[in-house]
Amino acid sequence: MRWDVKDITCIDDLRRLARRRVPRAFFDYAEAGSYSQETLRANRSDLEHIKLRQRVLIDVSSLDTATHIAGGDVSLPLALGPVAMTGLQWGNGEILACRAAQAAGIPFTMSTLSICSIEDVAAAVDKPFWFQLYVMKDRGFVRSLIERAAAAKCSALVLTVDLQVLGQRHVDIKNGLSVPPSLKMNNLINMATKPGWVLSVLSGKRWTFGNLDGHVKDMPDVKSLAQWVGSQFDQTLSWKDVEWIRTLWPGTLIIKGILDVEDARAAARTGATALVVSNHGGRQLDGAASSISMLPKIADAVGSEIEVLFDGGIRSGQDILRALALGAKACLIGRAYIFGLGAGGEAGVSKAIEIIRKELEVSMALTGVKRIAEVDHRVLV
Ligand code: GLV
Repeated sequence: MRWDVKDITCIDDLRRLARRRVPRAFFDYAEAGSYSQETLRANRSDLEHIKLRQRVLIDVSSLDTATHIAGGDVSLPLALGPVAMTGLQWGNGEILACRAAQAAGIPFTMSTLSICSIEDVAAAVDKPFWFQLYVMKDRGFVRSLIERAAAAKCSALVLTVDLQVLGQRHVDIKNGLSVPPSLKMNNLINMATKPGWVLSVLSGKRWTFGNLDGHVKDMPDVKSLAQWVGSQFDQTLSWKDVEWIRTLWPGTLIIKGILDVEDARAAARTGATALVVSNHGGRQLDGAASSISMLPKIADAVGSEIEVLFDGGIRSGQDILRALALGAKACLIGRAYIFGLGAGGEAGVSKAIEIIRKELEVSMALTGVKRIAEVDHRVLV
């Protein structure tokens, strides 16, 4: 199928196109869950089991999806979540995704493990974006990352707390995914069949982790992702460190990776603006509960103290409505926009956001709600 926006009607179309256009190692990296992928599948199937309540004869002629996330105005209850190596799904992928998000009026989150650097993206866009932080052993370096995010005027720090060790994704090992990401991996032949991708990535600013280049020890070593995370990430990370991060970053803090009520209460006590109910897209603890199954308990326990955001399996506007009905203030997507990026660069990310926007509008109309603030459990059967 040639890229033709008019033929694309859903996120799954973008996924199919991305699968053809992006080299297997990088497509698989984004798509995979850990181990047997039980949690990855549960994220989707539990969402699909939540039934929306069809309502009729309600005037829905003036419908508005605008809301606020973490203190900022947004056109949709949606943000682009952090995804490592976005710039290897498409050259300069972080810049393109950020531009698409900003044009659509929603936040973009840059991963610590981005290909473009914080400064590359800040120079290429005209509004602030969010920065996701992984805490590494070298605390001086962590401090400098936070300072760089502040200097780039990032509007929120998204602290990921569920990846101090890496859940194994079998495909990454089989594909020989290395650190730093290398263009010389064993599936070069596969890459040669993706000329559009090769051109985009070769004309991109960088091919390695832009934020870490020259800072992190052992960068030249080609290692597996798990070994590298094991050597660089700080496994001693605890709630005490969140206090330390708060002293360095007094601005908006979002704690991402909460799947337990007790942890949600601890997150609320830190004074963070928001938490993200998340199991890292089923990429970490396989066998963990689906993200949506934990959302209502967490929202009930802490929703009045801290903003509750949600990710895990969102592929449509209907899914957003389901999560909002169960207590989320807004949702983050990862794969849904990464498929758009791989399918068609910036236009593909814009398409992903617009597909979801239209689905949300239609679903709000058919459940009889006109404003995001009106969405609650009453939109469910
Ligand atoms: C990193 O965040 C990953 O899930 O691979």
